[in-house]
This record gives sequence, structure tokens and C-alpha cells, in this order.
Amino acid sequence: MATPVYTPFVFLLLLFQSRVWGFPVRQTPQESPTCGYKSCHATKPGMLNVHLVPHTHDDVGWLKTVDQYFYGDRNDIQHAGVQYILDSVVDQLLKNPDRRFIYVETAFFYRWWKQQTDDMQNTVKQLVNEGKAREGDEATTHYSAVIDQMTMGLRFLNDTFGHCGRPRVAWHIDPFGHAREHASMFAQARVIRAHSNLNPAPSPPGILPNGYNPPEGFCWDQSCDDPPIRDDPDLEDYNVDDVVTRFLSIAHAQALVYKTNHIIMTMGSDFQYENANLWYKNLDKLIRYVNQNQSNGSGVNVLYSTPSCYLQELHRANLTWPLKGDDFFPYADSDHDFWTGYFTSRPALKRYERISNSYLQTCNQLEVLGGPISRKGPFGAGYSETMKKAVAVAQHHDAVSGTEKQHVANDYARRLANGWAHCQVLVSNTLSSLSGSSAPRVYCEHLNVSVCPLTETSKKFSVNVYNPLARPVSWPVRLPVNGTAYSISDANGKAVDSQVVPVSQATAAVRRGRGYAVNELLFQVQAPPLGYSTYSVSLLQNGPPSPQSSPLSRAPTAVQNFFLSPSFRSYSLLSLCASFVTLRDFLSSLLCVCFPRYNASDGNNSESIQMSGAYIFRPNTSTPFIISKTCIYLHVFQYNSICRRPTKTFKRFIPWFSPWVSQVVRLYTDSRALELEWTVGPVPIGDDLGKEVISRLDSSINSSGVFYTDSNGREVLQRRKDYRPTWNLRQSEPIAGNYYPINSRAYIKDDKDQLTVVTDRSQGGGSIQDGSLEIMLHRRLLYDDVRGVGEPLNETSDIYPEGLVVRGRLLLSLSPPATAADTHRPLAQEVVLQPLITFTDGELHPSTRLEFSGLQAVLPPAVHMLTVSQWDQDSVLLRLEHQYQASESKEPSQPVTVNLQKLFSTLDVLGVSEMNLSANQWKDEMTRLDWKKHLPKRGGDPSVWEVNLKPMEIRTFLLRVRQR
Ligand SMILES: *[C@@H]1O[C@H](CO)[C@@H](O)[C@H](O)[C@H]1NC(C)=O
Ligand SMILES: *[C@@H]1O[C@H](CO)[C@@H](O)[C@H](O)[C@H]1NC(C)=O
Ligand SMILES: *[C@@H]1O[C@H](CO)[C@@H](O)[C@H](O)[C@H]1NC(C)=O
Ligand SMILES: *[C@@H]1O[C@H](CO)[C@@H](O)[C@H](O)[C@H]1NC(C)=O
Repeated sequence: MATPVYTPFVFLLLLFQSRVWGFPVRQTPQESPTCGYKSCHATKPGMLNVHLVPHTHDDVGWLKTVDQYFYGDRNDIQHAGVQYILDSVVDQLLKNPDRRFIYVETAFFYRWWKQQTDDMQNTVKQLVNEGKAREGDEATTHYSAVIDQMTMGLRFLNDTFGHCGRPRVAWHIDPFGHAREHASMFAQARVIRAHSNLNPAPSPPGILPNGYNPPEGFCWDQSCDDPPIRDDPDLEDYNVDDVVTRFLSIAHAQALVYKTNHIIMTMGSDFQYENANLWYKNLDKLIRYVNQNQSNGSGVNVLYSTPSCYLQELHRANLTWPLKGDDFFPYADSDHDFWTGYFTSRPALKRYERISNSYLQTCNQLEVLGGPISRKGPFGAGYSETMKKAVAVAQHHDAVSGTEKQHVANDYARRLANGWAHCQVLVSNTLSSLSGSSAPRVYCEHLNVSVCPLTETSKKFSVNVYNPLARPVSWPVRLPVNGTAYSISDANGKAVDSQVVPVSQATAAVRRGRGYAVNELLFQVQAPPLGYSTYSVSLLQNGPPSPQSSPLSRAPTAVQNFFLSPSFRSYSLLSLCASFVTLRDFLSSLLCVCFPRYNASDGNNSESIQMSGAYIFRPNTSTPFIISKTCIYLHVFQYNSICRRPTKTFKRFIPWFSPWVSQVVRLYTDSRALELEWTVGPVPIGDDLGKEVISRLDSSINSSGVFYTDSNGREVLQRRKDYRPTWNLRQSEPIAGNYYPINSRAYIKDDKDQLTVVTDRSQGGGSIQDGSLEIMLHRRLLYDDVRGVGEPLNETSDIYPEGLVVRGRLLLSLSPPATAADTHRPLAQEVVLQPLITFTDGELHPSTRLEFSGLQAVLPPAVHMLTVSQWDQDSVLLRLEHQYQASESKEPSQPVTVNLQKLFSTLDVLGVSEMNLSANQWKDEMTRLDWKKHLPKRGGDPSVWEVNLKPMEIRTFLLRVRQR
């Protein structure tokens, strides 16, 4: 973000830790550099101490791509060149040992570092004394990607700078709101206490006075126009007295609203310090002249400082700080300017980021399970690395958030595609090695629109389903085919039920020449934990589907499986969604799903000229317009014995098809959730109105103004309409002001029922009426919302030049509140880490291993294997997570124990060390096993290998392993 007036201005301080996070660069080359607080300048106890923090804020892609920013290319779009900033700052730091600088964007620093000579690298090592923090989005990111990204950046810093490169403060100056889960993750990234660091209370945030910009009149960058300090009395325009007076007055004013006699001023802004001499020359003078006034009793002491030095002083002040337990969403910078649009902006990129993270986890796991053979081929060591970097960069607050220019969004997507291409080689290597079959492996990345040339043309092929979860999954597979009957057998040769149904009209319309399959072949697959299962498919019959084999070409009035029974009737939606009828006899609840849209404000409004845009959601009226004409009733049988298990795998109903909004409803055997597959676009703009399309679920649940959303996909927070837990809200935007980020799920409930919606990407949503839950799916807008991006969010693509079409899924489940988590936790997890489906053509060799599990045994339901990733040649990074909150469920919420030695089927675990969450520090240096020297013998003390997990706890281990 660049426009100073509007930038949000919060940064997180982790006050109650002995370490803080930031990246000060310090002068004084010496043999063993002193790190951390020892390098802080002394302050003066009796005075007001003003901490000047020189910094630059360099977006990892926004108006330009990350590499254009690095090189300083395309300065016609925005003048910004990060390589020159780093060159210039290092040069200036060497000129005066008092100077300090904080740099946070590891993605840029890494690029720069690689290009430096050994001499320069050594010089910089002397300058750096603390690592730097991350700069990611907080609203639309998933915790697993956030943790991976922190790990990657911090590992580079530790490898490069040793313990002096370890960040001590979280410097998060430009996300558009703050998530509770982020504060918790930052806290867990450090070892705070020797024992449990579980669920640390979110730490108090610090709020900066002026965005992250310098005080008015004190910007000495080449991009600013403020007068320099003219201090030669023999020359014209001597202004030292004026500068000192203005500075003292600003400092005193700021001190009034801060608690201690220490205040902080951020001296820098977006892409500043390209010519750092301008800044430092004037800052040196400012410090000298302001401090000279101490002899006149000014009482003000100015110093070069860093966030961690500032924090140390706050800590020393021994005050009691308020703790913030809620989060900072939604963020607003004015009464009608709620930053809730970006929760949904660029829904296709948001989905691509999410599924890329799923691919990355699979890629990481298969690198571990396959061993060195997984890395053979053209890419050297860079197999999973390329994907790790691409996913990490996509976490930036102008990347997955959707607030970048179109060409930059394309660049993020290109990086992810390139990462996946690298991972495909690895995945193929490992699957070949594990299965013993070298048949070429085919990837079909457009199964969501029923495109896969292999399955469409082949008479005989096999389907490999790899499951990245540590428990077995059952998953519906839908493949585009032209035949009308197929025989399918599982890994044991057993026949599998299947169905052939015609491709829906909506699908035929959106795939646009990329495929011509007329049917979809549906069957349910089972895959073992961290492993695969292979299904063989043979064509039985070609030709037009017989009426019998496609019972679903006509809409049924009801479909049902063991758990759910939706029925579909057409009504005039306006009356239906408004006046809700409750039908309760044996039915537990009733639900109506519709697709309204908001018309975007174009800024022509008496209350405010704010328009809806990439960042901001502002409908022009609070009443949505109904687009679709039909409603679904969802009747839920709670395991009612009168429901017979249907024999068919799947039921589908297409309740409506309007030109640009459609939905397919599917209900699978064994599934407790109803799948709503939505397709939205091209959103029409012929009426010159931007539109924001939502899916609204209206139920008879008595939710009393309360609903729940997840925080970065992990814990759940309660939200209340027109209310904030820690301050008095005067609601000025009845819709946008009640929107929150939904990363993976949201729900409403009363005493009897809980309606949960699991999403397949980050989206915005709210509960505007009791019993109702709405999720924004897609937005197309005609105006820029004046937060700097300078483009309307008007997405098109080569395939959809008249406006982007986006498709996704919502999974709906209805259950009693007491057991709801048992359904929605695993459900959300299966969507976040979805199975990878690959194909081989023709008959498999009889010696092919059709099933494999990387685990010796299934883990308890509470345990999630968050990370399995190769660390170096003979060690593996493992994160185990207890995925339930304490009182969320009965059995699964209990603490569990896992034996690390009995985990993997292909690896012997020889040694273990526990680390902090971000894997850049040993958890407990004292009890850490020195596994290079004395390896614990297998069969020795078993307790070494037993790991206990409490609710919501994540534990991180480095395992020394040997391939079996
Ligand atoms: C802060 O409080 C601790 C104990 O609570 C005490 O040991 C320490 O001396 C105090 N520090 C100052 C600067 O007052
Ligand atoms: C599948 O059938 C459709 C419609 O008959 C046809 O256009 C398409 O070319 C067929 N695909 C293949 C691979 O035969
Ligand atoms: C939005 O995109 C369409 C299709 O490219 C284009 O015709 C239209 O001019 C664009 N409108 C705005 C306001 O950018
Ligand atoms: C940090 O890096 C050093 C080498 O610079 C290495 O010896 C140490 O093990 C690393 N620490 C962690 C926690 O990875």
C-alpha cells in the first residue's frame, strides 16, 4: 500500500517476551557482533525519549511485480527499486556507527544477498544483528501457509546470520486489520517459557502515530518535498531553530497519548531510502540539534532506534498493559470505508493460492517418503523449493488479498504454476518409485470444469489418489468421459460402484473449448493416511446414455443419503427468503439457499463519496437484489433410522441455471455435508453498476445476532452484529461493517442446531439477519477505491475476455452444536489438504503396488500432521497439531500421545529435537538431544519418543531419519 493518508497503522509488539522481533542493522564491525538489546543506544530516564526508526516499506508485489520492484524496472508505474535501497542503506550505515535501519521483506533481501560478493556479505553480516519479520496478509491467509512462510524466511536468516539473525519483534505495519491467530503464531514462534507455550494470550499491539510515515514536515527522502536542515548560518535560509521547534512540538503532542516517556517515530515509507544519504544526513543533524537543546532544559532526547530497542524500554517501564483477546477486524479508516471487500477480491487467485498450498504439502511429503530418488531429474535441488517460494510470496498483503494490479496478480499465479510444474516432477518420481511403475503420469488440473483429455479419450486408465492427511479419507471423484458405462476396480480388485451423468450446462459453458466430454464418471475413492490408492477404470459402453443410466438428467424433487435430505422446489425467491416457513416434525431444520447480489456504490452518495473497490466493500443500498429464482430446502435427518442408505454414490440436482449464476447441488453417500458448487460470471456490467455476488443461506436457526468465523483456519471467534468486544461501535455501514474474513468455515447455531459452511478459499461473509449466513463469492467493480492500486477490480482473462467466471464449492452441514466440530473440523481439513489425483494410461503392470501408506498406523482423530518436509539430507521437519479446541468436542478434545518412532513406514527415526513453531530455535537448549553424537538407541527409553499434544497445540520437531 502506498497512499499515506489511508494506510492502516498498527504494528504488533510482543511485549511479554524476552525477545522481540525486527531487523535492525548495526554498525561497528567486530569479531563477535553483539546482538539484540546490547546494541541499543542509551536512553535518558528523566526525559522524553524519541526513538527514530529508519525503515522502508517494500511491498512484495503490488503495482509492480516482485522482480520489477527489486530491479527498479517499470518506474513509469511507480518509482521503486529495492536493489538500490539495500545498496544505498548499507553504504550509509558504514559511514556512521550510530545509524540504524530496519528491513523486513525477506523475499527482497534474499534476492539482493545472493548477488553480493563474499566481501559484501561479510560486511553485511557485521551490520546485521537481528533477523527480520514477515510482512504478510492477516485476513485471507491460512495458518499452515503462514507458518511455512515464516519458517522459510527465518531459516534463511538463521543460516545466513546465525543467532543474531533471529527476529525479536513482529513488525507488521501494513496489513489491513490484524488476526488473533497471527498474534498467537508470532508468540509461538519464540520459546517463551520452558514448558507449555500453548495458546499464549494474544499480546498487546502498539499503534503508530502517523501510519508508518514520518511526522509531517520531516520526510527527507528523494521522493519527498520537505525542506532539508539548512544549518550553515553563513548561507541563506538557515532553519535549524524552526526545525527544532517544530520537532519538539510534534514530540510533545505525541507523548500526550503514549503511556511511557518513550515514543516512536517511523522515519521512512514505501520504497524510500533509494538514496539513503538524504535521509541519514538530515537525521544525523536532527538528532544533534534537538539534543543540543537539552542544555536549555528541553527535556527531549532523540536517538536512532529500532522496534526492539523501543520495546525494551516499554518493558523496562514495568507498566501493566491491556491484553487484547479479540482481533482487529473489520478494519475501517472512516465511517463508510470498511476494508471488507478484499476478504473476497480475486476469488480465483485466492483459490489458486489455497490449492497450491495443498499441492505444496503433498510435494513436501512425497519428497520425504520418496527419499533422494524424488529429486532426480532436471531441477537440481529446486523441486519443492520453487513451490515453497511461490506460496510464501503469495502470502503478501497485496497478493492473496487481491489488492494488486492485474498484471501483478498474473505474476503471482505464474509463480505458483511454475512451482507446481517443479513439484510434478518430484511427485511423479516418488509415485513411480513407491508403486514400481514407470508409466508416464498425467496431471489434470482442470477437473473442476470437467476437462481431462486422458479420461475423455482413454478406454483403460488408472487413477491414483494420494491423501496428504494422516487419517484415511473417502473422497468423491468426478472425471470427464465420453463413454456411458465403465467398470472400476479398487486396489484389491474389488468392483466399485459408479455412475455416469451428463456434464452440466454450466460446465459445458465455462470450459470453452478446453474439453468436449459429454459425461462425468462418478465414484467414491478411499485413500490411506499419507498414502495412495489406485483405481483401474475400463470403458464398458460407448454411445448415448440410456435413460436408465442417467437418472439425473431430469431434476429429482428430492435426493437423500443417510444423513441429509435436501429437496428442491421453485418459489418466487423474494417471498420465500423473506418469510420463512418452519417445518418441524421429524425434520430437524430447514434451509433456503439463494444468490443475491449487492450493487456497488459508485461514490455518488450523500453520506460519503467512497466507492466499492479492491479493498473496500460498500453496497449502494443495504437490500440485496435476488438474482436466482429457486431455493433449496435442506431437511436434515439426524441419523434417522427411517433413512435407507441409497445404493448410488451420488445425487445431484441443478436447481437453476441463469445466464451468469448457477449452482449444482451434490450429495454423496457417506457424506454429512451437502456440496453446493457455485459458478458466477461473467458478471454483467452493461448497466454501469459494479456487482458483488453472495450466496445466502436462510435457516430457521435462532442465532440471536451471533455467528462464528475461523481465524486463519484454526480457532473460532464469536462475532456479534453491530458490536465489537473491546470498544463501543457506532455502526455506519450495516452490511460492510458486519463482514468478517472466513478462511475455512463459519457457522450459526441455537440450542438445537448448528449450520456450518466450509469454504474452499478465503471469503468475506456475515450474518445480517438472524438465522442467515451470507458469503461473498465474486465481485466485479468499475471504480478504483482510492487506496492506491489505481485500477477497478474488473477481472477478465484470455478465456473469459468479457469478465472472469469463477467456480467454487461450499459444503453445508447441519448437526447438533455439541457434536458439530466432529464434522466441520475434518471437513474443513479435507478441503484445505485435498487428495491429489493423477492418471496413467492403459493397463498397469501386474507387479504395480496399488496401495501405499507412509504411516505405520492411523493417527488419533485429534492429530493433524501439519508439516512433513525434508529439512536437509538426513533430517525431516515434522509438525504435529492437536486440531480441536478444549471444549469443542468430547473424545477428540482430549490430550493425545503420539510415538514419533512408530510414525513412518518408510523411515527409521533415529533422533529428535524439538523446536519453536517457526523452527529457527531449539525449544529447550538444555534438554535437546545431541543427536549427532549419542543417538538414542531404538528400543531404549521409549518415553523419549512419546509426544503429548494438548488441545490446539502445535509441536515442531526435527527428526533425524534413515530411509528403510
Ligand atoms: C520492575 O518490577 C520488577 C518486579 O516486579 C522489579 O524487580 C524491577 O526492579 C522493576 N524495575 C523497575 C525499573 O522499576
Ligand atoms: C466426446 O464427444 C463429444 C460429443 O460427441 C465430441 O465432440 C468429442 O470430440 C468427443 N471426445 C473425444 C475425445 O472423442
Ligand atoms: C471492464 O472490463 C471490460 C472488459 O474488458 C471493459 O470492456 C470495460 O471497459 C472495463 N470497465 C472498466 C471500468 O474498467
Ligand atoms: C541456525 O544456524 C546455525 C548455523 O548458522 C546452525 O548451527 C543452527 O543449528 C541453526 N539453528 C536452528 C534452530 O536451525
